[in-house]
Amino acid sequence: MSHRIEELLARGDVEIRGRIAWSSNDARLVSVADGSGTAMEAVYKPRRGEQPLWDFPPGSLYRREVAAYELARALDWPIVPETVLRADGPLGPGMLQRFVDHDPRVHYFVLLDDRPLELRRFAVFDVVANNADRKAGHCLLARADDRVYGIDHGLTFHAHPKLRTVIWDFAGEPLTDGERLALERLTRQLDGAFGRRLADLLDPDEVVATRSRTVALLHAGALPEPEDGYRSVPWPLV
Ligand SMILES: Nc1ncnc2c1ncn2[C@@H]1O[C@H](COP(=O)(O)OP(=O)(O)O)[C@@H](O)[C@H]1O
Ligand SMILES: [Mg+2]
Repeated sequence: MSHRIEELLARGDVEIRGRIAWSSNDARLVSVADGSGTAMEAVYKPRRGEQPLWDFPPGSLYRREVAAYELARALDWPIVPETVLRADGPLGPGMLQRFVDHDPRVHYFVLLDDRPLELRRFAVFDVVANNADRKAGHCLLARADDRVYGIDHGLTFHAHPKLRTVIWDFAGEPLTDGERLALERLTRQLDGAFGRRLADLLDPDEVVATRSRTVALLHAGALPEPEDGYRSVPWPLV
């Protein structure tokens, strides 16, 4: 959660390096450079590349990715790579996210046994974000700092319940003290700076629903179980 990286992503010169294979939303690998020779790699998802969906408003997915990063910040959990809006991307408005160098064979199911506490955070995060698409491959182990980062948060923050995830290993388990404190801080942030950020990125009913999910999770005091009759696991799993 580096301010310097956010600045570079928000203001640096963007150059497209290539297409990302298998991206359903035409994601591109780009390099972002400032005048002084500092450069970084990023993933660029232009709004115009977004695949239309029946349940999410068109052209809103890239904003949800930024909202997901802001959520991780508000929780004070560095589990989403820096993600910013770019109105002036090379293919038009979209989002830029720090590229996380990782081994694609290492994903949620591979990491689970060794890092349960780290991965539980994604379960909590996904309940608050109402993540409708947490596949195992959306948890990356960064080579640089040996942390797990979540990606692909376009299908989040819908006003209606849509939690669809591979992370059900912690269902029914009580929140840890740390998780409870983070969620309590989040409710305060929702009334402050984070709430205002979300209001810029999402529809008003989606902001209200985010607050309701946070309060409901604190009130339940435990991670939810999959809902009956809803397809609560994404396909493919990885
Ligand atoms: N921040 C990132 N760092 C590293 N690789 C990424 C990042 N974001 C996406 N990718 C890679 O690009 C692929 C497509 O990205 P994804 O977010 O799944 O896009 P889509 O919106 O098309 O589903 C991912 O499977 C992953 O391999
Ligand atoms: Mg994807």
